[in-house]
Amino acid sequence: MCGIVGYFGFRRADKVAISALKRLEYRGYDSWGIAVKSGNELKIYKKVGAIGEVKDFELGEGKISLGHTRWATHGKPSEVNAHPHTDCNDEIAVVHNGIISNFQKLREKLEREGHEFKSETDTEVIPHLIEKYCKKGLSFEKAVMEAIKELEGSYAFVALSKNEDKLIGCRYKSPLILGVGDGEFFLASDVPAVLEYTNRVIYLEDGDTVIITKDGYEIINNGVKVERKVETVPWSLEDAERGGYEHFMLKEIHEIPRVIEDTLMEYVGEEITLDVSFAAGISEIVFVACGTSYHASLVGKYVIEKLTGIPVRVEYASEFNYHDVPFSRSLVIGITQSGETADTLEALRKAKRIGAKTLAITNVLGSSVTRIADYILYTRAGPEISVCATKTFIAQLIVLYVIALRLSTIPRSEIEDLITELRILPAKVEKILDNEEEIRKIAEDIANYDNMIYIGRGLGYPIALEGALKMKEISYIHAEGYPAGELKHGPFALLGKEMPVIACVIMDDTYDVMLSNVKEVKARDSPVIAVADERDEEVEKFVDYVIRVPSTNPIFAPITYSVVLQLLAYYTAKKRGCEIDKPRHLAKSVTVE
Ligand code: AGP
Ligand code: GLU
Repeated sequence: MCGIVGYFGFRRADKVAISALKRLEYRGYDSWGIAVKSGNELKIYKKVGAIGEVKDFELGEGKISLGHTRWATHGKPSEVNAHPHTDCNDEIAVVHNGIISNFQKLREKLEREGHEFKSETDTEVIPHLIEKYCKKGLSFEKAVMEAIKELEGSYAFVALSKNEDKLIGCRYKSPLILGVGDGEFFLASDVPAVLEYTNRVIYLEDGDTVIITKDGYEIINNGVKVERKVETVPWSLEDAERGGYEHFMLKEIHEIPRVIEDTLMEYVGEEITLDVSFAAGISEIVFVACGTSYHASLVGKYVIEKLTGIPVRVEYASEFNYHDVPFSRSLVIGITQSGETADTLEALRKAKRIGAKTLAITNVLGSSVTRIADYILYTRAGPEISVCATKTFIAQLIVLYVIALRLSTIPRSEIEDLITELRILPAKVEKILDNEEEIRKIAEDIANYDNMIYIGRGLGYPIALEGALKMKEISYIHAEGYPAGELKHGPFALLGKEMPVIACVIMDDTYDVMLSNVKEVKARDSPVIAVADERDEEVEKFVDYVIRVPSTNPIFAPITYSVVLQLLAYYTAKKRGCEIDKPRHLAKSVTVE
């Protein structure tokens, strides 16, 4: 998920690896490492912390290297878990991005065959598998190809052997590019790593293995040699970090289909594999969270109550400290993408003190919350750079759906149908992303207003809250979310031509009342923009604009509708010339109470 690089050429390979890794630093990482082939020796260096902390880095004269910045997914951030990983005799070095989902099985098998492992990572199975096939007499190259047949999950990796002047890269569902220079070649998970040296790249495809030798490179897919087009990258270094997108926020919204797949892959195989021992003997669930994670918790409440019948409360983490009721049979779930939010950490500490079980849902392995909670579940969104949470919110929702389905008492066939729907959500989100232009136009029309109200009912209510938070956070428009039924109790006084209302209209049991609320708003002259199901033929009669979302079971509306509202906020902020990725006065991790 973070960064890998590889180099084969005529320069000092330690220097190239370090400069290329520095270009990937923007992606965030917890540790890093480099291997250089120097004569018939592999020199390896690994470190926790920032690359810049090491001055005058040197790792010999070699001209072949690989390097890694790690965003830990399996095994805490530490020097042993940092990449490169090696085989038993330290003859093969591998750096890897992604997750090997069947690593446990592979590791047990290899251990039975006598392989000794040094780290807790999923990655380490790769060098051991390659070693196994080399020992059977295969060449390094053939051994790599045999090894990948056994890997499941997602990977981009680069491998180096001390016995051969060869650099090998493999890609499956994690990005890997080949940089083509004059007499030198680069492998990297992203373009900025190589731009200093070349702007000619090949975007490798799933299943590709590239073998680099002094004679050039060759790409093999499924045993067959393939040709891939060399493209010229038109971006500056700065643009390249954002993958050509103008802002990290937009890049991260576009990563959502992948994030849904990765997070699902973690907990759902043939069926749901999530271990729910955290729920044994509980009488209620209490969520504690802040901001966007609080909104994810509200969705969790609706979904868990609906599917399991377990009572759920949702608390702002910052308010949790002021309760005095006992929580002895409660499961307290803290949701925090960063794992560092002070209020959420404090709420979980308090929950433990008063005897509750605690579970944390976080995106950052090794973050503070993982040292506090009794149980941890990870979202697999990869690092999020923009202060505004987008892909991590969707990943949190996915984990909550999986928990709800796993604890559910509804018939098995219904659960299976819902899992099938979850699996096609990435395609539905893609459809929304294809419709970005329409959302951009509407955003440009609303960008001049100073205030906005978002409304929804049932699951539409947290969607409205989250949509309004996105809007105020990055566009600085004063936006508030309300349950649609609350409008009459005060906010109605604000309605009129200058107060646009964004209505989240879901085709579930809230639909009819929601439609009457929309009519009431329209009768008070507010411009109304509805976000509505593509099958909804009624709503357009009463509103000024409709943004359509692909139909899903309404329980999944928070995913599709939220992506629309993220894009709406993004393009509104863009039109207003706001900074977007670093909104004023805000921080990515709020580490003070
Ligand atoms: C979301 O866009 C915000 N940046 C903010 O509300 C955030 O969700 C909140 O600070 C909680 O962060 P956490 O998930 O890292 O705990
Ligand atoms: N899953 C691997 C690990 O935890 C790779 C993580 C990454 O992509 O940085 O070490």
